[in-house]
Amino acid sequence: PGADGVKRYPLALRPGETEFLPGQPARTWGINGSYLGPTLRARRGDRVAMAVTNLLPEASTLHWHGMRLPAAMDGGPHQMIAAGGTWTPAWTVDQPAATTWYHPHPHGVTAEHVYRGLAGMFIVDDEHSAELPHTYGVDDVPLIVQDKVFDADGQLKEDFGGTWGLLGDQVLVNGTHSPFFEVKASRTRFRILNGAGAHVFTIGFADNREFQVIASDAGLLPEPVTVDRVKVSPGERFEVVVDFRPGETVLLKGFDGDSVIEAGDYDLLELRAAATLAPSPALPATLAARPPVEPGPKTRTFKLGGSNINGRNMDPARIDEVVPAGAREVWEIDNITYDHNFHVHEVAFRILDIDGAEPPPHLRGPKDTVYVPGKTKVRLAVAFGRHTDATMPYMYHCHILKHEDKGMMGQFVIV
Ligand code: C2O
Ligand code: CU
Ligand code: CU
Repeated sequence: PGADGVKRYPLALRPGETEFLPGQPARTWGINGSYLGPTLRARRGDRVAMAVTNLLPEASTLHWHGMRLPAAMDGGPHQMIAAGGTWTPAWTVDQPAATTWYHPHPHGVTAEHVYRGLAGMFIVDDEHSAELPHTYGVDDVPLIVQDKVFDADGQLKEDFGGTWGLLGDQVLVNGTHSPFFEVKASRTRFRILNGAGAHVFTIGFADNREFQVIASDAGLLPEPVTVDRVKVSPGERFEVVVDFRPGETVLLKGFDGDSVIEAGDYDLLELRAAATLAPSPALPATLAARPPVEPGPKTRTFKLGGSNINGRNMDPARIDEVVPAGAREVWEIDNITYDHNFHVHEVAFRILDIDGAEPPPHLRGPKDTVYVPGKTKVRLAVAFGRHTDATMPYMYHCHILKHEDKGMMGQFVIV
């Protein structure tokens, strides 16, 4: 923080070169560096001030996915930053600890901008964060999972046609091909972000070991949930804690699933545990005292078509929904077509049911993005914030980026 107590973050969107494959530097975009951006970290109560400079050859934006903030600071399609321009949003971080992220949101070309490398993590801490593994890069490790297609020269192929846009055949973690990580703590936390345009990743270990899910998009679960796989659709985050034995090597993998947009079987990350591991404290039995989002009386229905919502495409001049400040509502997401997902800016929600059934325990916590398989109905209890602006909208959309770009998006205001 500066003398005025404000934390300032200078961020530059810029072109660069990244050597994903040895000896083959690829043209990429990055934030401050050549690919992806710095992990930002702030505490609940901090005042943060961004200076986002656009050094790209075209206009873009930077959206704070998962942040609760005024619509004018959100970085959606209405906050375009011209080439050469600087945008300076500022807000007070006021939400429970969570793994949020940032990425561009220029209408029509979000898939391309994210694919070229514009994305980063933004970790929010609160007064309970010290009770969990929290030493960045040591026992608290970001894993940004993305897919790519490389051409014969090692350049990123850009083919965003078809139903899904680009579906890559190579999976990178933090922009690294064939990555490994040296584990130093007996219990290590990974913050998994699906930063892909369309692929769904079903993540687990080659030896099928179990691990604990401790948080979903918008913060901690009530208690750790034991699983052996976690399915992560574009834009979603899960925080997991894994136990290691000294000296072992284990492989984090993607597994094939039942959807056409599952990325298939692939290696994600080799985890090499040191011969001596720092002992980690046990996980607390309860993680968050936060009450679950209770549904209010009002229900809104969103029918997901092939690339529309309720039969309409996004119109930047049309406000689709007007929500009262602080409202609790039920949003019913009725997918009448093939696989999609659904993200709402500004809010935290809880999944009430999936086709009428209670979700599995690790999907009962606070979220902002939900996977909605084909021909499935998901009901959400949504908690809206209190930043009002009658004219500046927030977005809700499918986070398959080419669907979003084609207009599978709507706008709401909080009044
Ligand atoms: Cu991560 Cu509107 O997006
Ligand atoms: Cu968002
Ligand atoms: Cu979609």
